[in-house]
Amino acid sequence: MTGEGAATRIDEIIASRFACRDFSSEPVGRGTIEQILRVARFAPSGANIQPWHVYVLAGEAKDRVSAALGKAHDTARNQHASEYSYYATDLPEPYLQRRQEFGRLFYGSLGIAQTDIEARGRQTGKNYAFFGAPVGLIITIDRRLEVGSWLDLGMFVQNVLLAAAGQGLQSCPQETFSKYHRILRPLLAIPAEQMVVCGISIGRARDHIAGRLMPRADVTQFASFAGFEEQSATQLERTTPWEAETI
Ligand SMILES: Cc1cc2nc3c(=O)[nH]c(=O)nc-3n(C[C@H](O)[C@H](O)[C@H](O)COP(=O)(O)O)c2cc1C
Repeated sequence: MTGEGAATRIDEIIASRFACRDFSSEPVGRGTIEQILRVARFAPSGANIQPWHVYVLAGEAKDRVSAALGKAHDTARNQHASEYSYYATDLPEPYLQRRQEFGRLFYGSLGIAQTDIEARGRQTGKNYAFFGAPVGLIITIDRRLEVGSWLDLGMFVQNVLLAAAGQGLQSCPQETFSKYHRILRPLLAIPAEQMVVCGISIGRARDHIAGRLMPRADVTQFASFAGFEEQSATQLERTTPWEAETI
C-alpha cells in the first residue's frame, strides 16, 4: 500500500511482535545481542539520562538463575514480592475487562482452566526458565529515579523487543522476575540502588507458535482527534492495515 498512512517496514515489525512463551534452544550469539542493545540504546530519555541497566544471561549463568528462581517458585513463592506494584489493586474498567479477556485467551490457548491454580502456577514457573530461550535479560533501574525515568525504561525495553524482531528473533518481556530480586541480587551482583524491573527472554519461537494471540482496542477507542479535516471512518481504518492481518 502506498500514500498517506501506508504501513512501513517498521510498522510491520511493531505489529508482528508478540510475547513468545515457547522458544527453541537454538543459540543466539553474543554479537546479535550486542547489536540489539546497540540499537535499543537509541531510545529517547528525558535529559538523555539513559536510566537502564541490563544483565545479559546465557548458558550456565542463565541456568543458575533459572534453577534458583524455579526452586523459589516451587517452594517459597509466598515469601517473595516485587519492590514495585505493576498492577493497580482494583483495576477499573475498561482495564479489568481487558485483563479478564487476556486470562480467557491466554489460559484457553494452553488448555488450562482458569480455576486450575496448580496448572496456572506451573505455567508461571516457565517464566523463570525464560520459556526455554537461549538468552535472558534482567533489566534494572536506579531506585532513586522518578516515574519519568520508568517511561524511558519502557521505551528502551520496547526497543530491545523490536530490535530482536528485526534480527528475526522473538521475545517476551516478563515482570515476573521482579518478584525474586532478593535472589537475583547476589547471583548477578546487582547493587543495592538498582531495582529489578523485569526480564526479557530472547530466542527463536518453536515451530508450533502461531504468533500474536492478544487483540488490541481500535484506535477510535483510545485516541481523540481534533483539528484535522473531516476523514471518513473507512479512511481511518485504512491507516492500520496490519490489524486485519495479524489479529
Ligand atoms: C512490562 C511487561 C511485563 C510483562 N510480564 C509478563 C510476564 O511476566 N510473563 C508473561 O508471560 N508475559 C508478560 N508480559 C507479556 C504480556 O502479557 C503481553 O505483552 C500482552 O498480553 C500482549 O500480548 P502481545 O505482547 O503478544 O501482543 C509482559 C508485558 C510487558 C509489557
